Amino acid sequence: MMESISCCKWFLILHLLFSAVVSAKHHGNPANELVNIINQNRTLAKLPQLNDNAGLSCIALQYIEHCQGNCTSNNTLKCKPSENNFTEIFAPNCGVELPTFGTITGRIVGCQSKYVEPLEAFSRVLVRDHKTLSVLRDKNHSEVGVGLIGNHHGPYFWCVLFSNDRINSTFVLDNGGKGIKQRKGCYSGANIDCNEGKRTKIFFLVSIFSVIFTIFI
Ligand SMILES: *[C@@H]1O[C@H](CO)[C@@H](O)[C@H](O)[C@H]1NC(C)=O
Ligand SMILES: *[C@@H]1O[C@H](CO)[C@@H](O)[C@H](O)[C@H]1NC(C)=O
Ligand SMILES: *[C@@H]1O[C@H](CO)[C@@H](O)[C@H](O)[C@H]1NC(C)=O
Ligand SMILES: *[C@@H]1O[C@H](CO)[C@@H](O)[C@H](O)[C@H]1NC(C)=O
Ligand SMILES: *[C@@H]1O[C@H](CO)[C@@H](O)[C@H](O)[C@H]1NC(C)=O
Ligand SMILES: *[C@@H]1O[C@H](CO)[C@@H](O)[C@H](O)[C@H]1NC(C)=O
Repeated sequence: MMESISCCKWFLILHLLFSAVVSAKHHGNPANELVNIINQNRTLAKLPQLNDNAGLSCIALQYIEHCQGNCTSNNTLKCKPSENNFTEIFAPNCGVELPTFGTITGRIVGCQSKYVEPLEAFSRVLVRDHKTLSVLRDKNHSEVGVGLIGNHHGPYFWCVLFSNDRINSTFVLDNGGKGIKQRKGCYSGANIDCNEGKRTKIFFLVSIFSVIFTIFI
């Protein structure tokens, strides 16, 4: 009896430790990480950093949510929403105040069958050729927004949108800057919990394993 109790205790402790490690590793928001990677790359090329705009990011998330299922075998996205889709669907779904809808001056989208860390997504999914690198390094950009979505079995979709508008006056989110809560995916520029598929899946598996072990001991 004593043995089984101490054994359970160990599992509980291990579970807590492992969960802590797992959530620490995935703490934060991969969309924010990608913005940092973009700004590092620009800084090294002596270009000004871009302001992370949450309204623009949320529109990026809506864009790929709308295009999910259109991932081609070479990691490109076969989906071109119309201008109207941006102002009539994506912006309202985010709670972006329409009079503040600015100019989108660049976009980079990509998809991958599995989740990859932001640094790998940057170099292997998003910025893979001269064309996308020149979009990234456009001197005229002033703002950026990143959205990311995926489900447990993939594929994962990333979208980077750029704008050249005056900082903080465009893509303003209503509700005091909170906008409309997104059910799925991640977007940058907001201190909001993000529901990126992988994190919840691992956490879930760890919990189930520990429960099963604890029951059988
Ligand atoms: C592909 O994208 C279009 C939007 O352009 C969307 O209507 C369609 O449902 C997507 N296809 C799949 C298989 O999800
Ligand atoms: C691969 O990507 C290019 C554009 O970069 C596209 O034109 C082509 O159709 C794609 N091929 C496949 C098989 O998806
Ligand atoms: C996006 O715009 C196109 C063309 O304007 C339209 O046909 C389509 O229905 C729009 N998408 C959605 C989901 O409404
Ligand atoms: C910036 O990103 C591009 C594309 O991945 C890469 O080729 C280049 O080496 C990067 N530059 C720096 C300074 O890291
Ligand atoms: C940069 O942005 C300004 C203002 O939107 C525009 O007038 C100008 O043509 C742009 N320059 C380039 C090189 O795209
Ligand atoms: C824009 O907004 C961000 C975040 O809210 C803030 O950190 C930054 O200082 C603002 N920039 C300007 C120029 O107001």
